Amino acid sequence: MCGIVGYIGPHDATPIILNGLKRLEYRGYDSAGLAILNGDQLEVRKDAGKLSQLIDLLGKSPISGAPGIGHTRWATHGAPNARNAHPHLGQTKRVVVVQNGIVENFLELKDELMAEGVEFQSETDTETIVHLVEHYLATGLSLVEAARKTFNQIQGANVVVVMSADEPDKIVTARIGNAGGVVLGLGDGENFIASDIPAIMEHTRNVIFLESRQMAVVTCNTMTIEMLDGAQVKPQVHAVSWDPIAAEKGEYRHFMQKEIHEQARAVTDTLAGRVDFVNGRIRLPDLNLTAEFARQIEKIYITACGTAAYAGMVGKYLIEKIARVPVEVVIGSEFRYSDPILNDRTVVLAISQSGETADTLAAMEEGRRKGATLWSIVNAIGSQAIRVADGFISMQTGPEIGVASTKAFTAPLVDQYMLAILLADLRGVIDDRTRKALVADLRLIPDLVGRTLEREEEVAVVAHALKDIRDCLYLGRGINMPIAYEGALKLKEISYIHAEGYPAGEMKHGPIALIDEHMPVLCLAPKDPWREKMVSQIQQARARGGVVIAVATDGDELVEAMTDHVLWIPETPWMLSPVVTVLPLQLLAYHIAALRGLDVDQPRNLAKSVTVE
Ligand code: AGP
Repeated sequence: MCGIVGYIGPHDATPIILNGLKRLEYRGYDSAGLAILNGDQLEVRKDAGKLSQLIDLLGKSPISGAPGIGHTRWATHGAPNARNAHPHLGQTKRVVVVQNGIVENFLELKDELMAEGVEFQSETDTETIVHLVEHYLATGLSLVEAARKTFNQIQGANVVVVMSADEPDKIVTARIGNAGGVVLGLGDGENFIASDIPAIMEHTRNVIFLESRQMAVVTCNTMTIEMLDGAQVKPQVHAVSWDPIAAEKGEYRHFMQKEIHEQARAVTDTLAGRVDFVNGRIRLPDLNLTAEFARQIEKIYITACGTAAYAGMVGKYLIEKIARVPVEVVIGSEFRYSDPILNDRTVVLAISQSGETADTLAAMEEGRRKGATLWSIVNAIGSQAIRVADGFISMQTGPEIGVASTKAFTAPLVDQYMLAILLADLRGVIDDRTRKALVADLRLIPDLVGRTLEREEEVAVVAHALKDIRDCLYLGRGINMPIAYEGALKLKEISYIHAEGYPAGEMKHGPIALIDEHMPVLCLAPKDPWREKMVSQIQQARARGGVVIAVATDGDELVEAMTDHVLWIPETPWMLSPVVTVLPLQLLAYHIAALRGLDVDQPRNLAKSVTVE
């Protein structure tokens, strides 16, 4: 997803923008650029590749001044090269634009503009925006009105930032649909625009989040926010608590490694303020859940993408087992095409770290359209998936920078466990003793997570043995079957090794033909209701010559005797075991990728939040 940083104020915008873009690198990009008003001239520097290339370019040809806007581009239309990189200057060289999203009607707009004699310099949809603004400026409109007309004319989900050398006292920005967020940072005699909080939180923690179809006129001392139709908006200022240091790597090599090790803290934080251990009760006030509605719920659809969807698959086990509410998990990109049967007794629960994933937001919109109640479990505060929901559970894990999601996987497992207990309590389907026992188990989790992560060195040894594999099967059953999918995804997305998660029971219906001495098999065999079945699964894999690695509970000598490697975990209550069984798989994928010298935090082709459909 593209990254955007804008600055207006008394200081040189160049270093502010570059530092901000650096903090957005986790979003994935393939080119970068910035535009600065230097005196009366707009100057642009941009190049393909990483920020280091842009910094080299600026070293050879420096620019300073303000205001300024910067951009890291994840190519959608047009190859990732200097010509297609943002910012895009108009023909007059007096107007410049950066954009995140897709202008869905850009071809007809481009035809109309070319018919007027406009010459395009790039293959991007973005360039139609800057030429359109110039088209309206030429009719005598102000920058704000020319921008407004343009924002109302482009179709699709977009974030746009535009500035002009002829009106240097302002930057104009707009959020149209779900193309990622726009964070407005309030400074003292200076103001900031960014795609996400980490880019500006060293300057200010007072922010405003633009809603869809809102635009903002930003000067050094003012922020005017309106709907695209001109209606005034009274903005809500949020105080962001995230500590800027928390967004740094600390003593870890990569953000992913840091965030893996933050999980004992993250599960503690996601429990904070929500568990009454004395009376064995759960409180989720932001969910706005009444006992009456809890008793009316007939079905919950969980919708999410990627890792978040696998968290939802664990949630299905928990909510059905504890609260006896039917749950169906449908991945975000399929939900709206499945013509789901929804009504006012259905809940659509979205899970999303970024809260900006287009497919997940589209699924929420489908739920809204069909009258369902929308809930979300989200990490990024102020994101769309929180704002459009009727109720939400914040993951409360702090910024997750690594593209491969880790703490934003384990936190929603705990959140769904709490949700299941609350639903069961309100629906009267759980007795006091059972409820108190389930709540008491939550107290164990941070320590169990910490103890498992302390075994990183053991996992690193197994990673060394496996670092040159080309394929891998991950097998699980029951509540840990989704962990097989998640473990495989972690390996795929950061080490580029083909890995496949599979329900262990399905192997005999075909896929077992894959197993030979070249196909390592990772079996999730913790002490849970399915361990015996997994033991026979391990035997089947061994019989076909496969290298077998198991995740097993401390002291399980039978599994140890049957496998080539064991990734040990402490004994864990089985309904919370996925929070722990996933940890060695995260570490295994991390160390294999690191041993292969790959870009762990920004794997090729991936973005932290996929805001395009
Ligand atoms: C997970 O490691 C991936 N980065 C990806 O599958 C991610 O979980 C998915 O894109 C959903 O993102 P979200 O949680 O921000 O909605």
